[in-house]
This record gives sequence, structure tokens and C-alpha cells, in this order.
Amino acid sequence: LGVRISDDALAIACGADDVAAAFARAGCTVERVSSWGMHWLEPLAEIDGMGFGPLEPDDIAAVLAGTSPKAIGRIEDHPFIARQQRFTFARAGKTRPLSLDDYAATGGWQGLEKARLLGPEATIAEVTQSGLRGRGGAGFPAGIKWTTVARAGAAQKYVVCNADEGDSATFADRMVMEGDPFMLIEGMAIAALAVGATRGYVYIRSEYPHAIAKMQAAIRASAHLVQPFVLEVRVGAGAYVCGEETSLLNSLEGKRGEVRAKPPLPALEGLFGKPTVVNNVLTLAAVPWILANGAQAYADVGFGRSRGTMPVQLAGNVRHGGLFEVGFGITLGELVNEIGGGTASGRPVRAVQVGGPLGAYHPPADFHLPFDYEAFAAADGLIGHAGLTVFDDSADMSAQARFAMSFCAAESCGKCTPCRIGSTRGVELIDRIRARSGRGADRVETLPQMHNARKGPRSLAEEITLLEDLCETMKFGSLCALGGFTPYPVLSALKHWPQDFGAAGQAQE
Ligand code: NAI
Ligand code: SF4
Repeated sequence: LGVRISDDALAIACGADDVAAAFARAGCTVERVSSWGMHWLEPLAEIDGMGFGPLEPDDIAAVLAGTSPKAIGRIEDHPFIARQQRFTFARAGKTRPLSLDDYAATGGWQGLEKARLLGPEATIAEVTQSGLRGRGGAGFPAGIKWTTVARAGAAQKYVVCNADEGDSATFADRMVMEGDPFMLIEGMAIAALAVGATRGYVYIRSEYPHAIAKMQAAIRASAHLVQPFVLEVRVGAGAYVCGEETSLLNSLEGKRGEVRAKPPLPALEGLFGKPTVVNNVLTLAAVPWILANGAQAYADVGFGRSRGTMPVQLAGNVRHGGLFEVGFGITLGELVNEIGGGTASGRPVRAVQVGGPLGAYHPPADFHLPFDYEAFAAADGLIGHAGLTVFDDSADMSAQARFAMSFCAAESCGKCTPCRIGSTRGVELIDRIRARSGRGADRVETLPQMHNARKGPRSLAEEITLLEDLCETMKFGSLCALGGFTPYPVLSALKHWPQDFGAAGQAQE
């Protein structure tokens, strides 16, 4: 009997290796495949298309006897899967990650073949017409970035894949690298062909050992298929700010991961001062599908200026956590309540942070927002890398605001003052505000005294105004998104849950 079980890091963390071993001991032929992305069901086993999960080794006898209460029916028909539009994750759950045969049999290399036929200019035109925007968070049009690099006159150019996926609630890059590594390699090879680059680097965070191993093996196995393009993996050392493109380039060059001022843009002076395409994993991984199926098929899906699909990642206190790829335009409420099934705790949703630690906290009043770069920006938020962290009504939102400031203080590269100093002052300020309503009082005794000429303590209103001023300074005075976006979670928490800061005001829940 053939059994398919994922060898993705999340499945392994949930016990997939033990379950696979138990099936093997029972005489089954076990095939390790990529993950479907239904995390709450891992370890998930597939037998003749039927799913069983989440399994433990003791469940195997019942599965084989056909009496398992963990049967979920046909995986393809599961509502979580059936409702998706999987372009980038079309192979998820279906292929062996390092099998060149599986990859070729499921449309692999067709995009690269097409790009070779079209040539560089027409390839860039396809990517531009598809409307593909940078999936790292900024949403900059990929075709325009590639055009800038293609037009730059230089003997050496590079393609760099940003796989330093550091946002909370994000794992789509990891799933691509672990589950479908040849797709990323194909996307990078197409980018290289389009802009005239001969070398590429995949910069992967050290916290992703499985992805590093899979990418290295896949690069070795497919080297002959992408030549003359030569690709290497480089491993980061664990700094969040190295996900910022210029800091990443410094790190790749062996320097300290400190942000560079822009201009010059990396597209003109990037790695080792040469024109460089720096794109996120999901941006590059979308390209083979676009080339193989045509720009129009991709552009036909989406909302407003956000074209195509977005692999949304559901995490935090949510019942059905996992990867949900869908065309832009689905609402936040649909994602959290219908797809995610509400909180795992069963309590009401209080807040959803969208876009990682630098993203805003949204109350249920925002659930009408369509998933779209512009719509979220207009609501003082961002979709970022499309990670959603769900919180129930036990969350303390001033504590979350404090976390945002302390995260910035810990991860700041130190280059500019609003971020380096502002974040530390921000933590102190929030601690003082919280202490007034008895929150986090244990920490307050260790706070430094206010070094100013004032007599007596500030009022709560004055402290809050000061926090808002500090956020404005960080927003407009910081060199990169780390300092510049930290105010989003802080100000959104203050705006929507003023009572958690001890201030009067109605919660918008
Ligand atoms: P940005 O808006 O400065 O640049 C976006 C991209 O477009 C960059 O690659 C830039 O070099 C390029 N670009 C801009 N103008 C160009 C031109 N004329 N020609 C060619 N290329 C051009 O944004 P930045 O600072 O790179 O990223 C900020 C975003 O990063 C935020 O929106 C945030 O959501 C996201 N972010 C993502 C994280 C993750 O883990 N994926 C973590 C933290 C932030
Ligand atoms: Fe460095 Fe922070 Fe300034 Fe970004 S905002 S350059 S991380 S100090």
C-alpha cells in the first residue's frame, strides 16, 4: 500500500517522521512529498487520494483497517483546498520535492523553455503584463525592476533571492524551498535570462535548515538544466534586518548586515556594486507559472492593482492555520473566520496583525477590507508578506505595542537615530503608560527617570501625545522599513484599543 506523508519541517515538527516509520513497519511503501499546507492536520497521510490526520503512530492500525476517525475524505475536495486558487502552490502535497521527474511531469521547466524562445525583452514584457508585484511586502512591479537591471550597462549582473523570511506568521517561502525547490530555481533562471545575469544567490535564514539542505540538493541536481546560470545558497546569521534588501546585500558580501542608503538602487548598484535583481522567494516562484500559462491568465485574477494570487499564511490563535493561496480581493474577515475558522481557543477574535511584526493590528471592524496592497495602505496598514497572526479577546494590546517597540530595539541595525534610540525610548514610554493602569508594573521600577527639566510626572494624555510624536518621527525619519514601520502596530493598537493604554475611548470591536 502506498502512503504519502510530507517531509516539510512543520510536518516533521508535528511528528511526521515517526508516523512515516510506523507505516513503513506495517509494510507500506512510504513516499515523502511536500505539504498541502493544512497545518492543523499534520502529520497528514494520503492513501489513494484520501487523507488522514493529524496522525500519531498509534493511529496507523485503524487507518489501515479502514476504521480511523481521523479520515478527512479526499484531500483535493477538502474545503480548505477546494476554495484555493493555487498557481504558485499547484504542486503542494503532490510531488516529491527533490524529484526532477515529478517536477518535469507537472509542467516544470516549461516557463524557462518559453523564456528561452521569447528572449529577454519579451520575457520581461510578459512579467510586466502579468502585473506581478514584489511579494516581499513593498509590492513594487517586478517587470519594472527587471527592466531597470536589464537596461543597466554592466559586464556582471546578479539575481538574488531574498529567502530571509523573518516576519511572524510567515512560512510560504520556506514551504516553496522545502516543497518545490526547482520552481524557485526555474524562476531565478528566467530572471537571469531576462536581465542578462549569470550568477545567482539564494540568501536563506539559518533558522531554516531543512530549506537550506533542500535548496542545496536541488541546485546540484538541476545545475545542467539552468546553465549558463550558476546558483549558490548563502546562509544568513539570524538578523531580522537582513531581510531588508541592502542589508542582505551587505551580509552577502561578508559585511555587517547594516542598511545602505538608497539611492543607489540595488537594481543599478547592488551586489558588489553591480546591477542586481533582488526579489522575494514568492515573486520569483510565481514567474514559471506566468511564463508557462501566459501573462493574461495571471492578470485575469486579482483585485485593483494587485494582480494574481497571494499565498496567505494563517497563524497565531487560529483554528485552521496554514497556507491559503487565493486571488487578491478576498476579505480579511473571510480569511480569519471562514478559512481560518476563528480562534483556536474558541474565544472571540480581538485583533489580527497583518504583515508581520511591523504590520498594523486590525480589529474585527476592519474585516471588510479586501486583501489588496492599496486597500490596506488606505486603512493605515500593510499586507506585507501576507502573514496573519490572530489574537483572541485575552490579548493585551498595549503589551503588543510594547512588543513592537522592543522588537525594533532588539533588531535595529543602529544606523539611524529614530530607530536606534527611538525604539528604546518607545519601550520606556509604553512601560510608563502601562504602569498607570497597573499593567507590567513589575518592570516599571527599573525604568530610568525622565531626564528633563519638568517638575512632576507627565499626565497620561501628555505621555500618549509623546508616544504619537515619537511614532511620527520614526515613521518619517527612519532609513528603512524596520524603524519606519514599527509605528504601525503601535499606533493601531493605541487607536483601536485605547482602554488597554488606560485611556478613555471606545474600542472598535
Ligand atoms: P521599497 O518601496 O523601498 O522598495 C521596493 C523594491 O523596489 C526594492 O527592491 C527597491 O529596490 C525597488 N525599487 C524601487 N524603485 C525602483 C526603480 N525605479 N527601479 C527598480 N527598482 C526599484 O521597499 P523596501 O524597503 O524594499 O521594503 C519595504 C517592505 O518590506 C514593506 O512593505 C514591508 O512590508 C516589507 N517587509 C517584509 C518583511 C519580510 O519578512 N518579508 C520584513 C519586513 C518588512
Ligand atoms: Fe537600521 Fe533601524 Fe535605521 Fe533601518 S530604520 S537603517 S534598521 S537603524
